[in-house]
Amino acid sequence: DIKETLAGKTVLITAGPTYEAIDPVRFIGNHSSGKMGFSLAEEAAKRGAKVILISGPSALNIENENITLIRVTSSKEMFTKVFEFYETVDIAIASAAVADYAPKEIAAQKIKKSDNSMFLELVKNPDILKTMGEKKSHQFLVGFALETNNEEENAKEKLTKKNLDAIVLNSLQDEGAGFKKDTNQIKIITKSEILDFTLKSKKAVAKDILDFVESKILK
Ligand code: PMT
Repeated sequence: DIKETLAGKTVLITAGPTYEAIDPVRFIGNHSSGKMGFSLAEEAAKRGAKVILISGPSALNIENENITLIRVTSSKEMFTKVFEFYETVDIAIASAAVADYAPKEIAAQKIKKSDNSMFLELVKNPDILKTMGEKKSHQFLVGFALETNNEEENAKEKLTKKNLDAIVLNSLQDEGAGFKKDTNQIKIITKSEILDFTLKSKKAVAKDILDFVESKILK
């Protein structure tokens, strides 16, 4: 019997990778499966929240009357969708692995194989989470940090720079954490605390994250 602790709340969740087109058949992407974000969406919905799940390309599907699933491809599309909803949400959690750069131009035709090397110019994508931080008013804003080294330091820097209430750190140094796997190992970092969690299923990690958010916003 689940208590609907988030009834009346709206939660925005970003999930999955983004694909940045190079030409009609190729893209720059990453290994995110969407599992972490979809687990968060499912758990928030179970708790009675209205969930807006904005996901990059993922093989996962979810059918739940509390969840509106919006599928996008590129980081620019994700950006646009996020800010269609951001003002109206109570909680936003950014678990998507958004590409930091995209090809400057998308070739109209499939790029032909010719020289032994080729040069692809990339330009920086807008930072969705940083923009959410800049526009933050009543929202409780949670980011993720995927790190390979200097983990806590880098995560704390993102917490401050992006004006977040909390950041969920996962490290590729930890076996069982990160992309594709069914498990994750996280730390939740705020300005004043670091909560350390053990390795567990992404579904259980989603519970820990939402328990934490509830402990901050429900009085
Ligand atoms: O999908 P899975 O296979 O289950 O894997 C889950 C995960 C490893 C992708 C997830 O747990 C995770 O760590 N997500 C964040 C990955 C990431 O891109 O981290 P980052 O440290 O590069 O980015 C920091 C934060 O800024 C993230 O919240 C990211 O969503 C956000 N960001 C980054 C760049 C950008 N242009 N816009 C953003 O919003």
